[in-house]
Amino acid sequence: MSRLSYALCALALGQCALAAPQLSPRATASLDAWLATETTVSLDGILDNIGASGAYALSARAGVVIASPSTSEPPYYYTWTRDSALTLKALIDLFRNGNLDLQTIIEEYVNAQAYLQTVTNPSGDFSSGAGLGEPKFNVDLSAYTDSWGRPQRDGPALRAIALIDFGNWLIDNGYSSYAVSNIWPIVRNDLSYVAQYWSQSGYDLWEEVNSMSFFTVANQHRALVEGSTFASKVGASCTWCDSQAPQILCYMQTFWTGSHINANTGGGRSGVDMNTVLASIHTFDPEATCDDITFQPCSSRALANLKVYTDSFRSIYSLNSGIAEGVAVAVGRYPEDTYYNGNPWFLSNLGAAEQLYDAIYQWNNIGSITITSTSLAFFQDIYSSASVGTYASTSATFTAIINAVKTYADGYISIVQTHAMTNGSLAEQYDKSYGTSLSARDLTWSYAALLTANLRRDSIVPPSWGAASANTVPSSCSTGSAIGTYSTATATSWPSTLTSGSATSSTSSTSSTNSSGTTTSSTSTSTSTCTTPTSIAVTFHELATTTFGQNIYVVGSISQLGTWDTSSAVALSASQYTSSNPLWSATITLAAGTTFEYKYIRKETDGSVVWESDPNRSYTVPSTCGVSTATESDTWR
Ligand code: NOJ
Ligand code: NOJ
Repeated sequence: MSRLSYALCALALGQCALAAPQLSPRATASLDAWLATETTVSLDGILDNIGASGAYALSARAGVVIASPSTSEPPYYYTWTRDSALTLKALIDLFRNGNLDLQTIIEEYVNAQAYLQTVTNPSGDFSSGAGLGEPKFNVDLSAYTDSWGRPQRDGPALRAIALIDFGNWLIDNGYSSYAVSNIWPIVRNDLSYVAQYWSQSGYDLWEEVNSMSFFTVANQHRALVEGSTFASKVGASCTWCDSQAPQILCYMQTFWTGSHINANTGGGRSGVDMNTVLASIHTFDPEATCDDITFQPCSSRALANLKVYTDSFRSIYSLNSGIAEGVAVAVGRYPEDTYYNGNPWFLSNLGAAEQLYDAIYQWNNIGSITITSTSLAFFQDIYSSASVGTYASTSATFTAIINAVKTYADGYISIVQTHAMTNGSLAEQYDKSYGTSLSARDLTWSYAALLTANLRRDSIVPPSWGAASANTVPSSCSTGSAIGTYSTATATSWPSTLTSGSATSSTSSTSSTNSSGTTTSSTSTSTSTCTTPTSIAVTFHELATTTFGQNIYVVGSISQLGTWDTSSAVALSASQYTSSNPLWSATITLAAGTTFEYKYIRKETDGSVVWESDPNRSYTVPSTCGVSTATESDTWR
């Protein structure tokens, strides 16, 4: 299917050259095709690693996520609270976008966490809350009692964030009682842990440095902010969230060095670390501005940080030799890393790309890019004439920078494509000299990172967590504590089938027929429970101020868009048009994965055609498993 659409596209591009002068290179075509299959490999890879029916997790309890099937060198056949929560967040992202088949896995995860919270372990017990900081457990959910870097205080925050995402979906789709009875009791315990213990040191996410850590506090801040909103939605309150969130935000500011974000207050290293990039993408809010205070992906701080982080690996991995600044390279956890001799990690490359896709989304949403003295060096790397200023989305500079950032982001993922196994398997690391897979095989987190990077690449973003109204730093701050409540979450029964309610946009069903015309089965545990879509209903939104008698059309390089023939262009509807929001829209069903170019045109009352200014716009129809609709929002230029 995708090969056919590329052939059509190439054919159409030949024709479009006659009608419209701008042709952009289609350098990402092979990446698009790889991602179309790799997203399925990744979802399968995750499901294989979740008990009790995942092919590699058969001895794990239901809903328990193993880090990797590797039982030695390194032994990763355990469940980590962090890896599990980040993975479930990705699955809930897919669920919210229409993959309702993930219901059972998500519910089993929720039930497993309700029990896990109560397990006494070397970090402590449940009644004091301290046990919630334990980083990893055996796959039967018994405590892991050997020595380890504990506690790790990011786990409860990340779990709360994942559960709130699912809880909000339940509320929005007519299942509020389950948010109240099954989700809130677990979330309340985690929020209580965060508020009580955030100002005490703990091990960082790499389980090595015992100090205060940016990834941990950034996620703790987010958890308390959205935890408070979630509490009110379930008819409760979280006073301990409200008192501590602004204090954590204040403390987060101390990690900004002026040139990059410092990862840990201890550890005796440069502080340049993937920790900080992960913090930015996991606290990304699609409705926020490029806010430095919450370190949003498009903020000057986070962009400057990404450059410092990336550049720190240019000279230490021979895979990167000869590659210029501003071009993506292999990146790892932190430059001083010695674990397995210190190598690039797949999730690092994927996370770096994700930050840039998030930033692109934010710039498009805001309608401009602002370059400050802090971010200037980042922008100059990819757009040499960049200078300090604000560039509106109608400017050529805006378009050029967006394209350059997209190329940069895709570059990080192309490196993943190059070093993945030929069957798509992603390990934890790849060798810094040879690119061969290293350390744990089939790392669940690598697959989750691929799925979220791909969703953001397709402009499919998570709901807002309220960052835009949680960015006021109090005038005086303290590193204190507040006490919540700990009580066992007991409700574990669920509705037999969850269906998305009228509150969400419609989701057409995805095809269950594969390209050879046979029906795929989703009953075996080693095959995907989600079918890669064959077509997507793409809605084009164009803001264009018109006068009576003028009409807006979309025309482009593919046959469905008239193959650049303006008399075959698709008419947009003005049914939602108002003077303050001059919205024209049309929904067109297109083959998943197709890349094409297009422009909007205006037809005058006399039938004459006015084209938008160059360059052509370009779009790739999402091909993400479970996704059935997409929206592309543009403004007339
Ligand atoms: C195992 C940890 O999971 C890893 O992050 C760490 O680098 C090594 N132990 C060495 O401390
Ligand atoms: C080692 C990583 O450093 C840590 O972040 C992760 O939780 C474990 N491996 C399990 O994947």
